[in-house]
Formats: sequence, structure tokens, C-alpha cells
Amino acid sequence: MSRSTKKHYRVNTARLIIVLAIIAVVIAGVVVGIKLLGGRSYHNESSFQKYAEKFFDTAADKQSVGESSNTISYGEPLSTGVQIPKLDMDISNDILKDEVKDEKDNFSTDYSGLDPEAKDKACFLAGYSSYETPYKVQSVALTSVIEQNSGSDMEVKSGVVHTYNFSTKAGASIGAAGVFKGDYAPVVSKLVTKALDKSYGDKLRDGWKNKVSADSGAFGNFVLTKDGIRFYFDKGSVIKYDTKDYGIAVCDISYDDLSGYVRDDVGKRVIDTSKKMVCFTFDDGPSIYTNDLLDIFEKYDAVGTFFELGQNVENVKGASDILKRELELGCEIGTHSYDHPYFLSTIGVKKAKANVQKGVNAIEKATGQKPTVFRPPGGEINQKVENAIDIPCILWSVDSLDWSNRNTAQTVANIEKAGNLDGKVVLMHSLYPSTVRAVRELVPKLEAKGYQFVTVSEMIQYRYKENIKSNKIYGYNYFYYSGDDK
Ligand code: NI
Repeated sequence: MSRSTKKHYRVNTARLIIVLAIIAVVIAGVVVGIKLLGGRSYHNESSFQKYAEKFFDTAADKQSVGESSNTISYGEPLSTGVQIPKLDMDISNDILKDEVKDEKDNFSTDYSGLDPEAKDKACFLAGYSSYETPYKVQSVALTSVIEQNSGSDMEVKSGVVHTYNFSTKAGASIGAAGVFKGDYAPVVSKLVTKALDKSYGDKLRDGWKNKVSADSGAFGNFVLTKDGIRFYFDKGSVIKYDTKDYGIAVCDISYDDLSGYVRDDVGKRVIDTSKKMVCFTFDDGPSIYTNDLLDIFEKYDAVGTFFELGQNVENVKGASDILKRELELGCEIGTHSYDHPYFLSTIGVKKAKANVQKGVNAIEKATGQKPTVFRPPGGEINQKVENAIDIPCILWSVDSLDWSNRNTAQTVANIEKAGNLDGKVVLMHSLYPSTVRAVRELVPKLEAKGYQFVTVSEMIQYRYKENIKSNKIYGYNYFYYSGDDK
């Protein structure tokens, strides 16, 4: 390379730096200009219209289902701007409209003292994202914020997300227990912690990890998407509070990462928490009578929990198909050990653990899925054994004594004399024709009285509002619902 070329090159570099500097100054000027001119504010009907529309764009990650409908109302001092989807399901539309109306009303009340003469103003904005899912479910995340002016700029006062996962079958929204199964909270906690840390880093506030710990109960605010589950955390929960942004944290966890913890029947059956719930459980199967029980459940859109014995799963003809049908119908499979030894009076901790594991393996081999709960033979359990076994242990609150009476009328009478069955877990066995007849009589009778049949895990989640724990004994005294929240 010659000297002159080198010099030429240096001159060009210097010019380039000057040009870049000028461009940078211009960009900075434009950015400041936008901030000053448009800013985080509005001054009249048309600028509020734009302000609201900009918010709708921010709230809309995706709008895959439903037609948007906007309602924008400018006022001094209070303005509102709402965008919601119109879905095919009337019930869902009512739910969304009611939510927005409640929030709007609260906003009007809370900010009624603002003085328009003093140029005070506030606005309520709501927008949405909507998602198609691999299930019979359409999901909507409704983001709503309240802003109030501080001088000439608007500041964000609150930011919340309401999530809805509407079953297209029933229109009603399904919650965590309708989506997750098993001891999912520790797994979700771990995945969410990792994802939030990666996405938000320094923006996360002190102690944020406690807000997403396994027992935080923080995983109820989510939508299903095409690829996974999107969790939301309201302003002020995990991200540091800043009046300049909406402060809502979002994280996506794929269905693959949640494998084994998402139900197969998402959206197929909907549990109404305002209705009474009862759980029928059947021990000692599968047997030649199990399909008769399933026929009844299928006919009445009911479910129950089957505590199966590993040896029957291996030896009863067609057992694998029976168990798969249980899962298809939304029933729950628990293990009742491999071959029914008494844990406390006969075999002790170590053998109990091995026996349950063998029972678990038989079910997993037959269905591809591990049982979610366990019931000890004869109800023999203590905390030491439970800790070793490490699957939620389920006892019962109503004993049908079907194994001893083997009589339809007596089995029915033993269950009915328990009175209010809301929140109760009934013990039966899938071994006797008399039990099948009793169930055939009771299921339609109880449904007519307003009961819905649930699995035991659903009962714990929906009636007792507890995330099921793997080393807990849900004992004889647990399943007595006091009806406090009704
Ligand atoms: Ni038994």
C-alpha cells in the first residue's frame, strides 16, 4: 500500500467519524423531540385517541382469535380507552365485558376527586392479546393500566393482567387445575425463575424469587399459546417499580419443558368452583368391573380417581386399555401399591417405598404416565413413610363399606348418610357389581342435586385451594369443606 493511499484512508476515517457524530446528534434530537412533543400524554380527544391506540398496540402481542372492538372516551379529568376481542362464545364475551366494566367503575370512583381546573387528569386503558392453542381452548390476556399526570407527563399507577383460558366447549374459563397436573408448582417455579432472570436481569426487584417460589401460589395468571404457557406478573410484583413503564413481567415456558405436568384433557371438562364437588375413589382395581364404572362416568360426563394395584395392572386382561380409557375420560390414576401390603403393621418404610415404586412403574408402563396420587393399603401411613414414598397420599372422608356389605342399597345409604358431600372424598372399590350399581344410582342423583364429580387432585386444587404437595398426607380430617368462601 502506498503512502498517499494510507493518508487518503485516514482522511476518510476522520470524515466518517464526523458524519456519524452528526447523525447521532440528529437522532438524539429526534428522540428528545418525540418525547417532548408527543410525550407520555394527551391533550384533547384526538390525541387521547392516538394515545389509547398506541396502548392497544403495546398490549397486543398477538391477536389470533376474536375481532377487536374499541371504545374510547375522552373526558376532563377522566378518560377511558378499551379494546377487547369479540369471541364466538357469548359467555366469554360477557366475562370480558364484566371485567372491564368493574375496572372502569373502580377507576371512576378512585379518581373522582381530580380537579380538571388544576389540569389534573387520569386515564384507564385496557387492551388484549389473544391466542390459539393446541387444545379446545382460546386464551385472552387482558392488560389494564391506570395512568395519572404528574406535571405534563402521564405516570403509570397500576398495571395488571387478567388471563382467561376459555374452553370452547363450555365457554367458561379454566384455571391452573384444569391445565396442570401432579406436583407441578416446583417445576414451574424453577422454569419461571430461570426465564425471568434471563429476560429481566437488573430490572428485577429485591426478593423477586420469593414471589415465584413453589409455594407462592403465583402461577395462576397465565394463558395458553400455540407453543406453551405464558405467565404474567403484575406491576410491582417481580419488576422494580418505575412510573415510566407498565412493569408487567411476562415469561413463556414451552409445553415441552412442562412435559408430564400438563393435562391431556385441557379444555374438555370445566370445573365450576361455585358448584358443589364430590370425589368418588375406587381402590384395588383395575378389574372386570372397571369399564362398567367408566361407562357410567362417560354417560354423565363425570370423573373419579382410581387407585390401582400394580399387580392387577400387569395381570388383568386389557388392563392397559382400561387405564388409558380412565385418562381419556379425564379420570385420575393413583397407585395403591403393587400388591397391597400393610405398610405400618407389616413391612416398614424401605419395603413400602419399593412396593409403591413397583406400583408406579406398572402404571407408567401401561399408560406412559406416572400416577399423580397414592393411597396406602388399609390407610396405613405415617409421615416418615410418606416422606420416603414422596407422592401425595390421599385418604378419605366417607367410607361406603362396599367391600363388607357388597350390597347396593347399603352402599348408597352409607354414602348418603354423610349428608352434605361437598368437598368429600368417598372410598369405594372397583371389585363388586354392587358397587357398580350403587354408582349408577348415585351419579345422576347427585348431579341432579347440583354436585359435580371431580378427581381428588381437582378437589384439593379447586375446593381447598391448595397446590397438591408430594410429601403430604391428605388425611381423614382434610376432606371436610366448611364452605367458607361460598
Ligand atoms: Ni385396598
